[in-house]
Amino acid sequence: MARIFSGIQPTGDKHIGNYLGAIRHWVTSQSDHECLYSIVDLHSITVTVEPTALRDATLSLATLLFAAGLDPKQSTLFAQSHVSEHMELAWYLNCTATMGELRRMTQFKDKSGGQESVSVGLFDYPVLQAADVLLYQSDLVPVGEDQRQHLELMRDIALRFNGRYGETFVVPQAQIPTAGARIVDLQEPTKKMSTTGGTEQGTLLLLDTPARLRKKVMSAVTDSDGIVRADAENKPGITGLLLLLSAIEDVPVQTLEARYDGRGYGDFKQDVADAVVTLLEPLQTRYAELAADPGEVVRLLNVGATSARSLAVPTVELVRERIGFAPRG
Ligand code: TYM
Repeated sequence: MARIFSGIQPTGDKHIGNYLGAIRHWVTSQSDHECLYSIVDLHSITVTVEPTALRDATLSLATLLFAAGLDPKQSTLFAQSHVSEHMELAWYLNCTATMGELRRMTQFKDKSGGQESVSVGLFDYPVLQAADVLLYQSDLVPVGEDQRQHLELMRDIALRFNGRYGETFVVPQAQIPTAGARIVDLQEPTKKMSTTGGTEQGTLLLLDTPARLRKKVMSAVTDSDGIVRADAENKPGITGLLLLLSAIEDVPVQTLEARYDGRGYGDFKQDVADAVVTLLEPLQTRYAELAADPGEVVRLLNVGATSARSLAVPTVELVRERIGFAPRG
């Protein structure tokens, strides 16, 4: 059975892009893959974060992921910092990755641009991400489009390490969905939806109230020609909404164009708003139920960490032996 690993940062409110680009696929993969999913809290501290906010966000995200359908009987969900082997392997891989490779990462350029001071961690972020995946000898990594470059780097690191020290790591493959891999901001539809780089009004949060979700969809930017047709260059707003609905309903954009032929933007937006609310309401109800018992979420995360560590330790031992460290223990 192929092994899957993926991760999500605890900080920043989670939005429908995270859901359609990643979380939904994590849930559907559970029945026929061995799945490990991590709340990557070590990645979150590459920028400044308040200690209480980090703790709360980690638990809240675990609750949200269970509410979205991650089943602790089928998947391993854990907090990255609970398995210290992530950091250990990241160091070993730091000595394989190059400065030139990391400098080319567009996410680093975006996040560091205009900042007075940037942590070494932010620069090194993709190496820790490589360690996350390689630690578990993962075959597949389901992610949104924005992670493609990090996935390519991780493959290069794995291949280089294997070439230098002998077969050690499975070389993982990205799994990027055909629909939903890049959900855009509803106010600035040339940008991806994001709580760090996007607009508040253009970001559909998974825990927004139905009224708020509707309001955000109804006020999405469009254009003046009144035709529901995809044209990324000239009609980015309508195109973004079409891609959103296509991902939610799992129907091709062309089918939607035919459905809305001759109908106005008002009708179309109304349907998108309904689809968003219908998609998220069950998740929100379940979230409220699970949030009532935070102790259980903490317990499940601990179980997840124990099980993740049992897979991580043998990889680290193998890596240490390959590199030539004296045996320990
Ligand atoms: P993060 O936390 O930013 O996002 C989590 C997942 O959501 C996807 N995503 C989107 N998909 C579609 N449209 C969008 N607008 C959108 N925004 C986000 C992301 O592609 C991602 O799959 N570096 C990673 C976390 C990470 C990781 C890993 C992922 C750490 N280690 C190992 C895979 C494997 C990140 O910050 O994702």
